[in-house]
Amino acid sequence: MNNHIIKTRLLVIGSNGMLGQRIVERYINDDSVEMKCASAEPESFIPGVNYSQIDISQKYQVRELILNFFPDFVINAAAYTNVDKSETEKETAWKINVNGAENIALYSWTIDAHMIHFSTDYVFDGKNGPYSEIDKPNPICYYGRTKLASENSVRVSGVRSTIIRTNILYGPVRNGRPDFVRWVVDSLTKEENIKIVTDQIGNPTFIDDLAEAVSSVIKFKKEGIFNIGGRNFISRYTFTELIAEFFNLDKKLITPILTSELYQPAPRPLKSGLLTLKAETELGYKPTDLTASFEIIRSRLSL
Ligand SMILES: NC(=O)c1ccc[n+]([C@@H]2O[C@H](COP(=O)([O-])OP(=O)(O)OC[C@H]3O[C@@H](n4cnc5c(N)ncnc54)[C@H](OP(=O)(O)O)[C@@H]3O)[C@@H](O)[C@H]2O)c1
Repeated sequence: MNNHIIKTRLLVIGSNGMLGQRIVERYINDDSVEMKCASAEPESFIPGVNYSQIDISQKYQVRELILNFFPDFVINAAAYTNVDKSETEKETAWKINVNGAENIALYSWTIDAHMIHFSTDYVFDGKNGPYSEIDKPNPICYYGRTKLASENSVRVSGVRSTIIRTNILYGPVRNGRPDFVRWVVDSLTKEENIKIVTDQIGNPTFIDDLAEAVSSVIKFKKEGIFNIGGRNFISRYTFTELIAEFFNLDKKLITPILTSELYQPAPRPLKSGLLTLKAETELGYKPTDLTASFEIIRSRLSL
């Protein structure tokens, strides 16, 4: 008798992004999953996957992708993530972050797929973080506004959905631009001076933890908003010092600076970060220790 395993059909959109790549790597050898990947580039950064190029702002492309693959779960890790450029490239940021999410929600709803969408602590103003899932958003930059609008679009679309808010992603990314840890390690190794803000607080999130949270959402079919973040609520400066200490690099190359001294186009939420009690209780979420996460990065990237 043939034992047919019914595989979960998983569509990962934005599969070439920092988070997208880790989600793909999490499922690539999972026999219980039939995975399809899609992202903006003509080729997949991770070889050997079923891949299509997609522009999520184009409704007909999203329709083709979703209706042809007929997924059980659609993960949207694609986004316009350049916070400063969003202030001037407003139309592009809106088209990708809001219209893109709307398109994915619409066709996921059409086939009754469950959509998992990512958002950010930048939906908050950073006056009194860390924030829980029920705190009232009040974005202070255009990127934050697009991400809040994306959440609202997904929620009103009627699709079964999970919105995962997260902040300050880091982890072992092999392709594309380096994550924050890699950037700090590379800069300090080259003995470059780096200026890091002391007044932006958050809980840096290890992308492997996010990928595990996605897997729990799929396993338990949990809907609603969930915060996913790390254990440590720290300033960007302290985070950078801890990276330097772990990788035995010269901390004196790190100069403390205030956000106001950087004159960035987009205002940043300062006292931010995301409380993860709901995810711990309902998803069994357990963030990895900072040191353990650095060890994983060192061994995976041979740093
Ligand atoms: N990184 C963080 O610290 C952070 C913090 C909080 C929340 N988040 C959220 O987490 C999610 C993943 O972020 P990430 O850091 O992995 O972002 P990322 O590395 O910038 O990845 C986003 C991916 O989406 C692709 N993309 C952009 N426009 C597209 C389009 N029109 N159609 C299809 N794909 C498109 C990008 O391609 P190109 O590179 O070619 O543009 C990129 O591969 C996002 O929703 C983001 O808002 C991230």
